[in-house]
Amino acid sequence: MSPRAKRTILVTGGAGFIGSCLIKLWLRTDPDVSIINYDKLTYCGDLSRLKELRAERRYRFVRGDVADAAAVERIVRGCDGIVHVAAETHVDRSLLEGRAFFEANTIGTYNLIEAARRSGVRRMLLVSTDEVYGSRDKGSFTERDPLNPTSPYSISKAAADLLATRYAGSIGVDCVVTRGSNTYGPYQYPEKVIPLFVSNALHDRPLPLYGDGRQVRNWIHVEDHCRGILTAYRKGKAGEVYNVSSPDSLRNIDLTRRILRILGKPETLVRRVTDRIGHDRRYAIRPDKLRALGWRTRRAFPEGLRETVLWYRDHEAWWRRIKEKSEEFKRYYARAYAGRLMKAAQGGR
Ligand code: DAU
Repeated sequence: MSPRAKRTILVTGGAGFIGSCLIKLWLRTDPDVSIINYDKLTYCGDLSRLKELRAERRYRFVRGDVADAAAVERIVRGCDGIVHVAAETHVDRSLLEGRAFFEANTIGTYNLIEAARRSGVRRMLLVSTDEVYGSRDKGSFTERDPLNPTSPYSISKAAADLLATRYAGSIGVDCVVTRGSNTYGPYQYPEKVIPLFVSNALHDRPLPLYGDGRQVRNWIHVEDHCRGILTAYRKGKAGEVYNVSSPDSLRNIDLTRRILRILGKPETLVRRVTDRIGHDRRYAIRPDKLRALGWRTRRAFPEGLRETVLWYRDHEAWWRRIKEKSEEFKRYYARAYAGRLMKAAQGGR
């Protein structure tokens, strides 16, 4: 690592979609920081997201699992700060098998907090999610609202979130939490709705839209989300939570139509399929607290989405490697969608 760097930050899950963007942004904007990327490289971890850092002396990769307490203890030693991004993130996978979510998300967070206490880390930030609030039909949640998660994924994150907001402070660990909305941009694993629908549409395959498609999600560009995390890390108050969202909320059906329009593909590609179990209808959070720290989104959704869709069109080799070559992905896709597509067809939708 470069002698110039004055602080060493541990970023967990840095080979993932959000973690990799955060590392690149941080190194680009802060010459005084060195980053250790601690990542297990699960099915969705991919170091090619960080290929531009190959020659960067302020960056180091260490393969490891946040659920492994002894390994976490070793890697945290000597670090000034921790940004904990590592997580199992896909709701549909958690509905098939939830155990890994509690191991990575809940136990992993506990291990990091305990290690932070023992090695005197100055600050820790947990990247949480708007899903911990659950769904609401009108209005939006503030950081003071109670948590009401519904899936194994969001429950495992809510437990982590409570460890960070209620437990960390009581044992003297300075911890800040961000709760982000649905994030989009380049390099997102193609199980998530935007890269999945774009890549399916590019190959004229059906877009499996869950239920009536009227669920509402708020969409934030990954760089805006990462700038929000950095703002909360630098300026947030210990023990506080900061919502991170954009002004752009829309129904899944409208998102799907926009994607098809950008690609010039027909709406007949949309296939309504059986809904997700306990599918949260609408997520909505207010990011006023983070805005008060000077943060703003920079990317408007129409341009951001267009750029992102075209990025997947122009980087087909990246997602084809996953969708066509990864046996794990193919098994998951068959397991998660086969029954659904069939039931929907029988139901005449
Ligand atoms: O809100 C923040 C959350 O956003 C993060 O905490 C999660 O880690 C992240 O996965 C994302 O959760 P969602 O479940 O909202 O994302 P996903 O891309 O899976 O789905 C977005 C919406 O699209 C959701 O209402 C379900 C719907 N959907 C999704 C897929 C994969 C479909 O209609 N068809 C699909 O095939």
